[in-house]
Amino acid sequence: MMPTMQSMLLPVLIASSALAASADDWRKRTIYQLLTDRFALEDDSGSACDTSDRKYCGGTWKAVQNHLDYISGMGFDAIWISPVVKNVEGETGYGEAYHGYWTQDMSSLNDKFGTEDDLKSLVSAAHDKDIYVMVDVVVNHYAGSPSNSSGTTSYDLDDFSPIHGSSSFHQQCWVKDDGNQTETEQCWLGDDTLALYDINTEDDTIVGELNDFISNLVSTYNFDGVRIDTVKHIRKDFWPDFASSAGVFTIGEVLIDNVTYAADYTQVLDAILDYPTYFALRDAFTSTKGDLSALQNAVTSAQEAYKNGEFMTGSFTENHDYARLQSMTQDSALIKNAMSFNFIHDGIPITYYGQEQGYTGGDEPANREALWLSGYPTDNDLYKAVVALNAARKSAMSADESFLTTKMSFISQSDIGAMAISKPPLLGLFTNTGSNGSASFSVEGVYDAGETLVDVLTCNAITADDSGKVSASASGGMPQVLIPASSLKSSYGVCADQADGAMGVRVPALAALVAGTVVAFVVGAL
Ligand SMILES: *[C@@H]1O[C@H](CO)[C@@H](O)[C@H](O)[C@H]1NC(C)=O
Ligand SMILES: *[C@@H]1O[C@H](CO)[C@@H](O)[C@H](O)[C@H]1NC(C)=O
Ligand SMILES: *[C@@H]1O[C@H](CO)[C@@H](O)[C@H](O)[C@H]1NC(C)=O
Ligand SMILES: *[C@@H]1O[C@H](CO)[C@@H](O)[C@H](O)[C@H]1NC(C)=O
Repeated sequence: MMPTMQSMLLPVLIASSALAASADDWRKRTIYQLLTDRFALEDDSGSACDTSDRKYCGGTWKAVQNHLDYISGMGFDAIWISPVVKNVEGETGYGEAYHGYWTQDMSSLNDKFGTEDDLKSLVSAAHDKDIYVMVDVVVNHYAGSPSNSSGTTSYDLDDFSPIHGSSSFHQQCWVKDDGNQTETEQCWLGDDTLALYDINTEDDTIVGELNDFISNLVSTYNFDGVRIDTVKHIRKDFWPDFASSAGVFTIGEVLIDNVTYAADYTQVLDAILDYPTYFALRDAFTSTKGDLSALQNAVTSAQEAYKNGEFMTGSFTENHDYARLQSMTQDSALIKNAMSFNFIHDGIPITYYGQEQGYTGGDEPANREALWLSGYPTDNDLYKAVVALNAARKSAMSADESFLTTKMSFISQSDIGAMAISKPPLLGLFTNTGSNGSASFSVEGVYDAGETLVDVLTCNAITADDSGKVSASASGGMPQVLIPASSLKSSYGVCADQADGAMGVRVPALAALVAGTVVAFVVGAL
């Protein structure tokens, strides 16, 4: 399941089209999640997209390809695209299948998003830019509207392809009791308006078809990873063969706020989306009354319970199923704390498209806004914050090869509302006191005496005292993501004046002595 040696022996072959991406390859990356229908239009017309209509708005794979630089410009080197296969067509009682989660035919693509060639072209263009592509798949169920004549509801199991017919699906019953695992796995999600016909994953023939499906899908389009929907709705021992048939990194949606429950699935897939931490993080940072210790508990218990601790998780602050953070609070300091926490997390940071543009959509479908309506600016505050956070993480990786295998640890603080996380060489100082609040921090025993640290979000510098103690205070409730100046790489263009240790250590190169910096150095010398 985790071919780790391969990536260690062949470090130069990044994103080679011939080499399957492993879990260890993925952990070095950060992911941008997008809904194909809502990310970009081919003609860039900026046409309207009313989320409340729940209809296709026109995004395509070709348009995603055209805007890859917008994504890599933030420092992401992987994308997660919404499901690609053929879905329910036309209106249902819950709108159209623009999100892609209502499969009707696994063997065909959804032509609303383009052709086979378009999808291959997207993946190959992404690889040319060293961006991995993760495809989203649903194998728990197909979807459809039951027919209803003279008061009798009937479920038409022959309308689907290639999986079809009554023996291919579990007998109809609704999942009502989350605590009953048999029911969770074998009954149906959805309702009589839009039923999610539960595939009979107890049947060996069907299991073989699903394994072939994922193997073909990955190899045909050259995907680097697979995000799997509704994982807890299929028996656990289904997953190892499915994952090995995929042959690439797999990450599963185990939607539950329960670390013990989620932990079992870390045994059968490479990774899971870290829902327990998400719920705690959302609660901690969308209110000045949020509970930071509950967040710490969520992280530390997952570090203990999951097979690979929190390392093999996807960490996220928003996704297509939950209201955006900015629908819960407009305090930009709180939002930035949540976003920054996500990048110092042990897992693979995932950003849901639109957060970088400050999108504020509430519960689904409002959280699925068209990104083209933003005009894709790259000079706004949150976009630049993401650039800085990715730069900090990538710099930390290259400065310290154990960064990715060092657990984030909490350094207790006396201020209520202050949270300090050490993941050397990074130090994250977070607070949920909000933009009117303040918090002070003190961290000892991590850095050398006199070491200069840079906050990548502001480029402010802090110097450790003679005993190596770092003291800081949060200005306007803002988070700080600190890294030794000597470890921050200037190639990311973040805090270039301090990067590569330019401030304390290096004599400024002649080329840097342009007007502004001359003054700075002269003043500094006096
Ligand atoms: C099916 O039809 C009956 C009688 O017309 C109606 O009461 C019921 O709400 C319908 N169910 C659905 C799911 O449309
Ligand atoms: C759990 O659900 C299954 C399937 O619906 C059912 O047969 C079984 O009786 C349930 N078990 C309990 C303890 O309720
Ligand atoms: C969490 O999941 C475990 C394992 O399934 C279960 O025993 C426990 O009752 C759950 N905890 C809560 C609070 O639901
Ligand atoms: C900060 O305080 C001002 C003045 O009391 C208030 O109007 C504003 O809403 C506060 N901001 C936040 C984010 O709480």
